[in-house]
Amino acid sequence: MAEPNKAHKVVVLGTGGTIAGTSAQPGDDRHYRAGQIGVDQLLQHLPKLPANLVLVAEQVAQVDSKDMGPALWWQLRRRVAHWLAQADVVGVVITHGTDTLEETAYFLYATLPAAKPVVLTCAMRPATSLAPDGPQNLRDAISVALHPGAQGVLAVCAGTLHGALDVQKLHTSRLDAFSSGDAGVLGKIRSHRLFLIRNWPQASVKYSGSAIENIASDADWPPVDIVTSHAGADGLVVDALLAQGVRGIVVAGTGSGTVHHALEAALLRAQAAGVVVWRSTRCALGPVSPAAQRLPDAQGLSPVKARIALALELLTCSPR
Ligand code: SIN
Repeated sequence: MAEPNKAHKVVVLGTGGTIAGTSAQPGDDRHYRAGQIGVDQLLQHLPKLPANLVLVAEQVAQVDSKDMGPALWWQLRRRVAHWLAQADVVGVVITHGTDTLEETAYFLYATLPAAKPVVLTCAMRPATSLAPDGPQNLRDAISVALHPGAQGVLAVCAGTLHGALDVQKLHTSRLDAFSSGDAGVLGKIRSHRLFLIRNWPQASVKYSGSAIENIASDADWPPVDIVTSHAGADGLVVDALLAQGVRGIVVAGTGSGTVHHALEAALLRAQAAGVVVWRSTRCALGPVSPAAQRLPDAQGLSPVKARIALALELLTCSPR
């Protein structure tokens, strides 16, 4: 835990999600609205907070995370960067919906040098549940933010610590909905203590520079889409995207990243027309094979993370 007598400031940024959700019938965990309760209210009644902890709450957004997108990511990134730059802030916690948590985590990981911890957390049950998981997850996220040496963009759910690169939601309803796949989890949190299993992720930033810092709105975000390979795929969707001016396409291939021949032909046409095409897999776990494929692979990223990386690549590397 943190040094006993020194004050430690942790900033908690609220963005909505089930953790801030309410149902009309208390205890109804299926019919509820995400993003209803303010982050300052979520921080009330958290158990066993250290006496020297100063918590600052800031509401950045109040959304169901299915509606998250570049405009909110840039706004969130600005607020995180602002707080991380304050000398007295030891870490930032972000309350977020589970549905796109891994995308926000990846976006921040890829664009923000986080030498301090940035911990996303969430809940699978709304705040009005008879047994909400949000308070425990939030308390655990604060424990991680206070942990000496903590750094990087992280995610906490169900007593488990994940890195932004590896975390993904694998289950629609289990409290322990997230996995770090073959990489494995970073640690476990028990009774407000973190037990680290792997090293902290390196605070290396892949996408930086003025193209990132000067982003004014999501109008700057290049159009990048995901298409899925499947039995009977015909590539019509690729032709339609091309006609609409798409600049990047991630194909979620079958198995180790293979692509139906008709879809592949359409993707190669798009590539020849200047669209950047990356290949990922629709499988939740496991690598993509580079062998015998004409489309470059997405370097181990899931389709949704590859889509963000490809948009950032287009923003930072190519003439606009
Ligand atoms: C959301 O992602 O905002 C709703 C679902 C959830 O948080 O579990």
